[in-house]
Amino acid sequence: YQDQYILGIETSCDETAVAIVKNGRELIANVVASQIESHKRFGGVVPEIASRHHVEQVTMVLEEALNEAEMTMDDIDAIAVTEGPGLVGALLVGVNAAKALAFAHNKPLVGVHHIAGHIYANRLLKEFEFPLLSLVVSGGHTELILMNEHGSYDVIGETRDDAAGEAYDKVARTLQLPYPGGPHIDRLAHEGEVTIDFPRAWLEEGSYDFSFSGLKSSVINTLHNAKQKNIELLPENIAASFQESVIDVLSTKTHKAAQEYGVKQVIVAGGVAANKGLRAKLEDTFAGEEGLELLIPPLHLCTDNAAMIAAAGTIAFNKGERSGWDMNANPGLPL
Ligand code: KG4
Ligand code: ZN
Repeated sequence: YQDQYILGIETSCDETAVAIVKNGRELIANVVASQIESHKRFGGVVPEIASRHHVEQVTMVLEEALNEAEMTMDDIDAIAVTEGPGLVGALLVGVNAAKALAFAHNKPLVGVHHIAGHIYANRLLKEFEFPLLSLVVSGGHTELILMNEHGSYDVIGETRDDAAGEAYDKVARTLQLPYPGGPHIDRLAHEGEVTIDFPRAWLEEGSYDFSFSGLKSSVINTLHNAKQKNIELLPENIAASFQESVIDVLSTKTHKAAQEYGVKQVIVAGGVAANKGLRAKLEDTFAGEEGLELLIPPLHLCTDNAAMIAAAGTIAFNKGERSGWDMNANPGLPL
Protein backbone atom coordinates (compact mmCIF):
# COMPACT_ATOMS: atom_id res chain seq x y z
CA TYR A 1 0.00 0.00 0.00
CA GLN A 2 1.29 3.38 -1.01
CA ASP A 3 0.14 6.79 0.07
CA GLN A 4 -1.48 8.79 -2.68
CA TYR A 5 -0.98 12.53 -3.13
CA ILE A 6 -3.32 14.48 -5.40
CA LEU A 7 -2.68 18.10 -6.27
CA GLY A 8 -5.86 20.16 -6.83
CA ILE A 9 -6.27 23.41 -8.75
CA GLU A 10 -9.37 25.64 -8.55
CA THR A 11 -9.91 28.88 -10.50
CA SER A 12 -13.62 28.80 -11.38
CA CYS A 13 -14.56 32.16 -9.86
CA ASP A 14 -12.63 34.66 -7.74
CA GLU A 15 -10.25 32.47 -5.72
CA THR A 16 -6.97 31.12 -7.11
CA ALA A 17 -6.38 27.96 -5.12
CA VAL A 18 -3.96 25.02 -5.04
CA ALA A 19 -3.97 22.22 -2.48
CA ILE A 20 -2.45 18.81 -1.85
CA VAL A 21 -4.52 16.02 -0.29
CA LYS A 22 -3.22 12.66 0.96
CA ASN A 23 -5.32 9.53 0.35
CA GLY A 24 -8.37 11.65 -0.43
CA ARG A 25 -8.91 12.58 3.21
CA GLU A 26 -5.91 14.35 4.70
CA LEU A 27 -5.08 17.99 4.04
CA ILE A 28 -1.33 18.44 3.41
CA ALA A 29 -1.36 21.96 1.94
CA ASN A 30 -4.16 24.41 1.18
CA VAL A 31 -3.41 27.81 -0.36
CA VAL A 32 -6.13 30.26 -1.43
CA ALA A 33 -5.48 33.69 -2.97
CA SER A 34 -8.71 35.65 -2.80
CA GLN A 35 -9.52 38.44 -5.26
CA ILE A 36 -12.48 39.79 -3.30
CA GLU A 37 -10.79 43.15 -2.74
CA SER A 38 -10.40 43.70 -6.51
CA HIS A 39 -14.06 43.01 -7.25
CA LYS A 40 -15.60 44.79 -4.26
CA ARG A 41 -15.88 48.22 -5.84
CA PHE A 42 -17.80 46.73 -8.78
CA GLY A 43 -20.29 45.05 -6.43
CA GLY A 44 -19.64 41.62 -7.90
CA VAL A 45 -17.12 39.46 -9.74
CA VAL A 46 -15.89 41.00 -13.00
CA PRO A 47 -14.97 38.03 -15.23
CA GLU A 48 -12.18 39.80 -17.12
CA ILE A 49 -10.49 40.94 -13.90
CA ALA A 50 -10.89 37.45 -12.42
CA SER A 51 -9.09 35.80 -15.36
CA ARG A 52 -6.24 38.29 -15.23
CA HIS A 53 -5.72 37.78 -11.51
CA HIS A 54 -5.70 34.00 -11.92
CA VAL A 55 -2.95 34.30 -14.54
CA GLU A 56 -0.91 36.50 -12.22
CA GLN A 57 -1.44 34.31 -9.14
CA VAL A 58 -1.54 30.69 -10.21
CA THR A 59 2.21 29.98 -10.39
CA MET A 60 2.88 31.59 -7.01
CA VAL A 61 -0.01 29.78 -5.35
CA LEU A 62 1.25 26.48 -6.77
CA GLU A 63 4.77 27.10 -5.43
CA GLU A 64 3.39 28.08 -2.05
CA ALA A 65 1.33 24.87 -1.83
CA LEU A 66 4.35 22.70 -2.68
CA ASN A 67 6.43 24.63 -0.12
CA GLU A 68 3.77 24.26 2.54
CA ALA A 69 3.74 20.49 1.90
CA GLU A 70 7.55 20.36 1.65
CA MET A 71 7.13 18.47 -1.60
CA THR A 72 8.10 18.66 -5.24
CA MET A 73 6.02 17.63 -8.26
CA ASP A 74 7.84 14.25 -8.11
CA ASP A 75 5.82 13.42 -4.98
CA ILE A 76 2.48 14.07 -6.69
CA ASP A 77 0.50 11.15 -8.15
CA ALA A 78 -2.04 13.10 -10.20
CA ILE A 79 -3.36 16.59 -10.90
CA ALA A 80 -7.05 17.39 -10.42
CA VAL A 81 -8.53 20.61 -11.75
CA THR A 82 -11.96 22.26 -11.80
CA GLU A 83 -13.24 21.78 -15.34
CA GLY A 84 -16.58 23.54 -14.72
CA PRO A 85 -19.03 25.06 -14.04
CA GLY A 86 -17.83 28.61 -13.52
CA LEU A 87 -16.58 31.61 -15.47
CA VAL A 88 -15.10 30.32 -18.71
CA GLY A 89 -12.08 32.64 -18.76
CA ALA A 90 -11.34 31.93 -15.11
CA LEU A 91 -11.69 28.15 -15.53
CA LEU A 92 -9.38 28.22 -18.56
CA VAL A 93 -6.47 29.50 -16.47
CA GLY A 94 -6.70 26.55 -14.08
CA VAL A 95 -7.27 24.01 -16.84
CA ASN A 96 -4.26 25.26 -18.80
CA ALA A 97 -2.06 25.43 -15.71
CA ALA A 98 -3.03 21.84 -14.87
CA LYS A 99 -2.33 20.66 -18.43
CA ALA A 100 1.07 22.39 -18.54
CA LEU A 101 2.00 20.87 -15.18
CA ALA A 102 0.81 17.40 -16.16
CA PHE A 103 2.71 17.59 -19.46
CA ALA A 104 5.93 18.94 -17.96
CA HIS A 105 6.02 16.40 -15.11
CA ASN A 106 4.38 13.50 -16.91
CA LYS A 107 1.47 13.19 -14.45
CA PRO A 108 -2.08 11.97 -15.01
CA LEU A 109 -4.75 14.65 -15.23
CA VAL A 110 -8.36 14.51 -14.08
CA GLY A 111 -11.11 17.12 -14.51
CA VAL A 112 -13.43 17.73 -11.56
CA HIS A 113 -16.93 19.21 -11.29
CA HIS A 114 -16.92 22.23 -8.94
CA ILE A 115 -19.95 20.97 -7.00
CA ALA A 116 -18.47 17.49 -6.57
CA GLY A 117 -15.60 19.43 -5.01
CA HIS A 118 -17.84 21.30 -2.56
CA ILE A 119 -19.41 17.98 -1.55
CA TYR A 120 -16.06 16.24 -1.07
CA ALA A 121 -14.78 19.03 1.19
CA ASN A 122 -16.76 17.09 3.81
CA ARG A 123 -14.70 13.93 3.32
CA LEU A 124 -11.75 15.84 4.76
CA LEU A 125 -13.71 15.75 8.04
CA LYS A 126 -15.08 12.24 8.02
CA GLU A 127 -15.49 9.16 5.82
CA PHE A 128 -18.75 9.15 3.84
CA GLU A 129 -21.53 6.70 4.65
CA PHE A 130 -24.19 6.01 2.04
CA PRO A 131 -26.93 6.80 1.28
CA LEU A 132 -25.91 10.38 1.85
CA LEU A 133 -27.76 13.63 1.24
CA SER A 134 -25.87 16.80 0.37
CA LEU A 135 -27.28 20.30 0.58
CA VAL A 136 -25.20 22.44 -1.78
CA VAL A 137 -25.68 26.16 -1.24
CA SER A 138 -23.32 28.57 -2.99
CA GLY A 139 -23.32 31.71 -5.08
CA GLY A 140 -24.26 29.74 -8.19
CA HIS A 141 -25.99 26.63 -6.81
CA THR A 142 -28.78 25.47 -4.53
CA GLU A 143 -29.20 21.73 -4.82
CA LEU A 144 -30.16 18.65 -2.86
CA ILE A 145 -28.04 15.76 -4.07
CA LEU A 146 -28.47 12.11 -3.13
CA MET A 147 -25.41 9.85 -3.24
CA ASN A 148 -25.55 6.07 -3.06
CA GLU A 149 -21.85 5.57 -3.68
CA HIS A 150 -18.69 7.57 -4.24
CA GLY A 151 -18.74 9.74 -7.34
CA SER A 152 -22.46 9.19 -8.07
CA TYR A 153 -24.71 12.24 -7.84
CA ASP A 154 -28.49 12.22 -8.12
CA VAL A 155 -29.92 15.76 -8.09
CA ILE A 156 -33.31 15.47 -6.34
CA GLY A 157 -33.94 19.22 -6.05
CA GLU A 158 -32.51 22.44 -7.41
CA THR A 159 -33.29 26.12 -7.62
CA ARG A 160 -35.65 27.28 -10.33
CA ASP A 161 -34.29 30.83 -10.31
CA ASP A 162 -31.74 32.44 -7.97
CA ALA A 163 -29.22 30.46 -5.97
CA ALA A 164 -29.28 30.98 -2.20
CA GLY A 165 -25.98 32.87 -2.20
CA GLU A 166 -27.15 34.98 -5.13
CA ALA A 167 -30.27 35.99 -3.16
CA TYR A 168 -28.05 36.90 -0.19
CA ASP A 169 -25.79 39.00 -2.40
CA LYS A 170 -28.70 40.79 -4.11
CA VAL A 171 -30.52 41.58 -0.87
CA ALA A 172 -27.22 42.78 0.62
CA ARG A 173 -26.78 45.08 -2.34
CA THR A 174 -30.19 46.71 -1.76
CA LEU A 175 -29.17 47.19 1.87
CA GLN A 176 -25.98 48.82 0.54
CA LEU A 177 -23.72 46.25 2.11
CA PRO A 178 -20.38 45.38 0.45
CA TYR A 179 -19.82 42.37 -1.83
CA PRO A 180 -20.04 39.50 -1.10
CA GLY A 181 -23.09 40.25 0.98
CA GLY A 182 -23.74 36.86 2.59
CA PRO A 183 -21.44 37.26 5.59
CA HIS A 184 -22.72 40.85 6.21
CA ILE A 185 -26.38 39.77 6.23
CA ASP A 186 -25.44 36.87 8.50
CA ARG A 187 -23.75 39.24 10.98
CA LEU A 188 -26.61 41.79 10.84
CA ALA A 189 -29.24 39.07 11.24
CA HIS A 190 -27.82 38.21 14.63
CA GLU A 191 -28.18 41.82 15.78
CA GLY A 192 -31.80 42.09 14.63
CA GLU A 193 -35.19 40.49 15.17
CA VAL A 194 -37.62 38.80 12.81
CA THR A 195 -40.22 41.55 12.37
CA ILE A 196 -41.44 40.80 8.83
CA ASP A 197 -42.98 37.54 7.66
CA PHE A 198 -41.33 37.24 4.23
CA PRO A 199 -42.69 34.60 1.84
CA ARG A 200 -41.37 31.06 1.65
CA ALA A 201 -41.55 29.27 -1.66
CA TRP A 202 -42.46 25.69 -0.74
CA LEU A 203 -43.51 24.92 -4.35
CA GLU A 204 -45.60 21.80 -5.14
CA GLU A 205 -46.24 19.18 -2.48
CA GLY A 206 -43.28 16.82 -2.36
CA SER A 207 -40.99 18.99 -4.47
CA TYR A 208 -37.40 19.41 -3.35
CA ASP A 209 -36.85 22.33 -5.70
CA PHE A 210 -36.15 25.83 -4.45
CA SER A 211 -37.04 29.35 -5.52
CA PHE A 212 -35.62 32.52 -4.02
CA SER A 213 -36.49 35.23 -6.52
CA GLY A 214 -39.94 35.88 -4.97
CA LEU A 215 -38.37 36.35 -1.57
CA LYS A 216 -35.72 38.64 -3.01
CA SER A 217 -38.39 40.77 -4.75
CA SER A 218 -40.46 40.88 -1.58
CA VAL A 219 -37.50 42.27 0.38
CA ILE A 220 -36.80 44.87 -2.32
CA ASN A 221 -40.49 45.91 -2.48
CA THR A 222 -40.75 46.14 1.30
CA LEU A 223 -37.74 48.47 1.41
CA HIS A 224 -39.07 50.53 -1.48
CA ASN A 225 -42.56 50.93 0.02
CA ALA A 226 -41.19 51.87 3.42
CA LYS A 227 -39.01 54.52 1.85
CA GLN A 228 -41.99 56.03 -0.02
CA LYS A 229 -44.04 56.17 3.16
CA ASN A 230 -41.09 57.50 5.14
CA ILE A 231 -41.16 54.50 7.45
CA GLU A 232 -37.79 53.60 8.86
CA LEU A 233 -36.96 49.91 8.73
CA LEU A 234 -33.93 48.64 10.61
CA PRO A 235 -31.52 46.83 8.26
CA GLU A 236 -30.74 44.29 10.97
CA ASN A 237 -34.44 43.37 11.18
CA ILE A 238 -34.68 43.04 7.39
CA ALA A 239 -31.58 40.84 7.46
CA ALA A 240 -32.98 38.70 10.30
CA SER A 241 -36.37 38.31 8.59
CA PHE A 242 -34.84 37.48 5.20
CA GLN A 243 -32.40 34.99 6.71
CA GLU A 244 -35.21 33.32 8.69
CA SER A 245 -37.14 32.71 5.47
CA VAL A 246 -34.15 31.27 3.57
CA ILE A 247 -33.09 29.02 6.43
CA ASP A 248 -36.62 27.78 7.09
CA VAL A 249 -37.00 26.52 3.51
CA LEU A 250 -33.48 25.07 3.28
CA SER A 251 -33.66 23.19 6.58
CA THR A 252 -37.24 21.95 6.16
CA LYS A 253 -36.65 20.53 2.67
CA THR A 254 -33.33 18.98 3.69
CA HIS A 255 -34.97 17.33 6.70
CA LYS A 256 -37.86 15.93 4.61
CA ALA A 257 -35.52 14.56 1.95
CA ALA A 258 -33.25 13.01 4.58
CA GLN A 259 -36.24 11.18 6.06
CA GLU A 260 -37.73 10.12 2.74
CA TYR A 261 -34.46 8.62 1.50
CA GLY A 262 -33.39 7.25 4.89
CA VAL A 263 -29.89 8.66 4.61
CA LYS A 264 -27.07 8.00 7.07
CA GLN A 265 -25.38 11.35 6.62
CA VAL A 266 -26.45 14.86 5.72
CA ILE A 267 -23.61 17.04 4.52
CA VAL A 268 -23.64 20.74 3.78
CA ALA A 269 -21.49 22.33 1.11
CA GLY A 270 -20.78 25.66 -0.60
CA GLY A 271 -20.21 29.24 0.55
CA VAL A 272 -23.62 29.66 2.22
CA ALA A 273 -22.76 26.69 4.47
CA ALA A 274 -20.63 29.28 6.29
CA ASN A 275 -23.87 30.93 7.46
CA LYS A 276 -24.11 30.84 11.26
CA GLY A 277 -27.90 30.85 11.27
CA LEU A 278 -28.11 27.95 8.81
CA ARG A 279 -25.51 25.92 10.69
CA ALA A 280 -27.36 26.40 14.01
CA LYS A 281 -30.76 25.58 12.49
CA LEU A 282 -29.49 22.39 10.82
CA GLU A 283 -27.72 21.28 13.99
CA ASP A 284 -30.95 21.83 15.86
CA THR A 285 -33.07 20.05 13.22
CA PHE A 286 -30.90 16.94 13.11
CA ALA A 287 -29.92 16.79 16.79
CA GLY A 288 -32.73 14.38 17.63
CA GLU A 289 -32.29 12.12 14.59
CA GLU A 290 -30.74 8.85 15.64
CA GLY A 291 -28.42 7.13 13.19
CA LEU A 292 -28.19 10.28 11.13
CA GLU A 293 -25.01 12.33 11.15
CA LEU A 294 -24.75 15.97 10.12
CA LEU A 295 -21.44 17.20 8.66
CA ILE A 296 -20.69 20.88 8.09
CA PRO A 297 -17.18 21.87 7.01
CA PRO A 298 -15.21 24.58 8.83
CA LEU A 299 -15.56 28.00 7.19
CA HIS A 300 -12.38 27.85 5.08
CA LEU A 301 -13.57 24.61 3.47
CA CYS A 302 -17.11 25.96 2.79
CA THR A 303 -16.01 28.70 0.39
CA ASP A 304 -14.05 27.95 -2.79
CA ASN A 305 -10.76 26.13 -2.26
CA ALA A 306 -8.65 23.49 -4.01
CA ALA A 307 -8.56 20.94 -1.19
CA MET A 308 -12.11 20.00 -2.12
CA ILE A 309 -11.06 19.59 -5.78
CA ALA A 310 -8.16 17.33 -4.79
CA ALA A 311 -10.50 15.32 -2.53
CA ALA A 312 -13.11 14.84 -5.28
CA GLY A 313 -10.31 14.30 -7.82
CA THR A 314 -8.95 11.40 -5.76
CA ILE A 315 -12.26 9.54 -6.14
CA ALA A 316 -12.43 10.21 -9.89
CA PHE A 317 -8.77 9.22 -10.33
CA ASN A 318 -9.21 5.96 -8.43
CA LYS A 319 -12.27 5.15 -10.55
CA GLY A 320 -9.95 5.36 -13.56
CA GLU A 321 -11.17 8.66 -14.91
CA ARG A 322 -8.54 10.57 -16.90
CA SER A 323 -8.65 13.79 -18.91
CA GLY A 324 -6.70 14.23 -22.13
CA TRP A 325 -4.85 17.19 -23.60
CA ASP A 326 -8.14 18.16 -25.21
CA MET A 327 -9.78 18.89 -21.84
CA ASN A 328 -11.47 22.26 -22.04
CA ALA A 329 -13.04 24.64 -19.55
CA ASN A 330 -16.75 23.82 -19.54
CA PRO A 331 -18.94 26.49 -17.90
CA GLY A 332 -22.05 24.26 -18.27
CA LEU A 333 -20.49 20.98 -17.16
CA PRO A 334 -23.22 18.62 -15.86
CA LEU A 335 -22.67 16.89 -12.50
O1 KG4 B 1 -19.04 28.48 -2.79
P1 KG4 B 1 -18.71 29.91 -2.93
O2 KG4 B 1 -17.47 30.44 -2.25
O3 KG4 B 1 -18.59 30.29 -4.44
C1 KG4 B 1 -19.44 29.75 -5.41
O4 KG4 B 1 -19.12 28.62 -5.88
O5 KG4 B 1 -20.46 30.40 -5.68
O6 KG4 B 1 -20.01 30.74 -2.43
C2 KG4 B 1 -20.05 32.13 -2.42
C3 KG4 B 1 -21.39 32.58 -1.88
C4 KG4 B 1 -21.62 34.08 -1.99
O7 KG4 B 1 -22.91 34.29 -2.53
C5 KG4 B 1 -21.56 34.56 -0.54
O8 KG4 B 1 -22.35 35.71 -0.27
C6 KG4 B 1 -22.09 33.35 0.20
O9 KG4 B 1 -21.50 32.25 -0.48
N1 KG4 B 1 -21.71 33.36 1.61
C7 KG4 B 1 -22.60 33.44 2.61
C8 KG4 B 1 -21.87 33.46 3.83
N2 KG4 B 1 -20.54 33.39 3.50
C9 KG4 B 1 -20.47 33.31 2.15
N3 KG4 B 1 -23.95 33.49 2.58
C10 KG4 B 1 -24.59 33.58 3.77
N4 KG4 B 1 -23.96 33.63 4.96
C11 KG4 B 1 -22.61 33.57 5.04
N5 KG4 B 1 -22.00 33.60 6.22
ZN1 ZN C 1 -18.05 27.29 -5.10
